[in-house]
Amino acid sequence: MKFIVATHNQGKLREFRRILTPLGVEVETAELTEPEETGTTFAENAYIKAKAALDETGLPAIGDDSGLCVDALNGEPGVYSARYAEVGKRRLKVLGKLEGLPEEARGAHFTCSICCVFPNGDTITAEGMTFGHIAHESRGENGFGYDPIFISDEGAAKGKSFAEATGEEKDSVSHRGRALRSFAEKLESYLKAKE
Ligand code: IMP
Repeated sequence: MKFIVATHNQGKLREFRRILTPLGVEVETAELTEPEETGTTFAENAYIKAKAALDETGLPAIGDDSGLCVDALNGEPGVYSARYAEVGKRRLKVLGKLEGLPEEARGAHFTCSICCVFPNGDTITAEGMTFGHIAHESRGENGFGYDPIFISDEGAAKGKSFAEATGEEKDSVSHRGRALRSFAEKLESYLKAKE
């Protein structure tokens, strides 16, 4: 079964392919109209994206809504991560707001909500989180979005920014890696139950 991934974000798409293809889940993109993200939670927005893609293509679709939540900013930018400032200024805005704060006060996590919607109305949802802290300046060239300012506290990526980590290191601990692996497990059970 093929799934449409409801995203225009090339960074996310790369990770979807990297994580789901080895698990036997085939993903494709389509020219999709971007729906308005009117939800107040990651889960609501993931559903909105998936449902819009399903309605447009008629194919099972997967939506991802994700973002960076900074403890010292009461969880900002959170669901507004993609709209926190103009393109190119989002990381600087976070760094500026944390200026002068010591490492122990710079805690942060990424969250990722996945929602898959099938033409018959069934849905599969999954969530993943990953923990770390905000760097004092951007580090590394890989990844996308806030990756250069997020220093992982976990596993193979520990002590590296997500932009310094290899794709494999990031996926092994990332919010999206965790959410997509959980989704793939649930999908397997769902498909088995339908046999
Ligand atoms: P949305 O889910 O399309 O609304 O956008 C989420 C935004 O959060 C992205 O545009 C990125 O700025 C940020 N984000 C989500 N996941 C990651 C990640 O894995 N690395 C870096 N930034 C991320």
